Amino acid sequence: MLYHIALPLLTLVGSALGSLLPTKRATVCNGNAALCSRSYGNTTFMGAHDSFAFSDDPLALARDQEVDIPTQLGLGVRLLQAQAHLNDGVIHFCHTSCDLFDGGAVLDYLTTVKTWLDANPSEVLTLLFTNPEGLSIPDVWAPAFEQSGIASLAYTPSMNPMPQSAWPTLGSMIDAGTRVVVFLDAGADGSDGGVVPYILPEFTMIWETPFSVTDASFPCSVDRIDGSPADHMYLINHSLNIDIFGIIISDPEQAGTTNGVASILANANGCVPLSQGNRLPSFVLLDFVNIGAGLQAVNQLNGLA
Ligand SMILES: *[C@@H]1O[C@H](CO)[C@@H](O)[C@H](O)[C@H]1NC(C)=O
Ligand SMILES: *[C@@H]1O[C@H](CO)[C@@H](O)[C@H](O)[C@H]1NC(C)=O
Repeated sequence: MLYHIALPLLTLVGSALGSLLPTKRATVCNGNAALCSRSYGNTTFMGAHDSFAFSDDPLALARDQEVDIPTQLGLGVRLLQAQAHLNDGVIHFCHTSCDLFDGGAVLDYLTTVKTWLDANPSEVLTLLFTNPEGLSIPDVWAPAFEQSGIASLAYTPSMNPMPQSAWPTLGSMIDAGTRVVVFLDAGADGSDGGVVPYILPEFTMIWETPFSVTDASFPCSVDRIDGSPADHMYLINHSLNIDIFGIIISDPEQAGTTNGVASILANANGCVPLSQGNRLPSFVLLDFVNIGAGLQAVNQLNGLA
């Protein structure tokens, strides 16, 4: 009897409360209230190139970062780039080969990222991975995303390719709990044995400037793309390399200048005419993110500084 009365009453109270309390919405997105209403396709994010290849040992020449993933994220990195290879049958992040630099299993890396995402619920994060060995998307990549729990936070666009102008706001992605965008440079179009809806092909949505740059003035050109820049976001590969007898390596010695506001803004502004829409880069990819002023530059590009 009590049960019969209490249940409708509870339902009534519940729905009254529901209509009184506004739906919980993110009020600060990626650290800034102004970014909640900004579309993903119109936001500039700081990226860490070879994010897994971190070492504080200056003799580790194959490193491109000095600090670990949580520290990179803490510095404001919101795009993590990494290259995967098979090592003893397990997918690892490695630089060129796992003999040169082994960053460990992709699953362990993604689990670390998931822990950070859970602790930082108002952040949109992009993962941009490279698949040079053409490892299977459904059989090799997807299990790592699923087992780490990242798959449940991954954003699946309503269109594929999603034009730059059609992306949702950061606020709506955070509210929906789908705040991780995953791109792969090769295979995500189905050419490597099947499609996984949240693992997106990079070059139909993003173009890149050249890599292994050794010219400190970073002349801009469209390097890798599939389609037209008009409806693409773009990434500037803003890391300066030195050529030591034919071996191209990143040099932390010059990172203070390269990752300074002046160098980043000059590179970004130099690319605007190529965007076919007067647009700044969506992603600024840096080596040694703990050196210089990458976040300050990206805040300026977002009009926040
Ligand atoms: C966002 O839009 C503004 C205004 O059109 C533009 O100046 C800026 O470059 C855009 N940024 C990105 C990353 O698209
Ligand atoms: C950026 O540059 C590096 C070499 O410095 C290259 O390996 C990489 O593919 C480029 N693009 C991305 C998205 O990392």
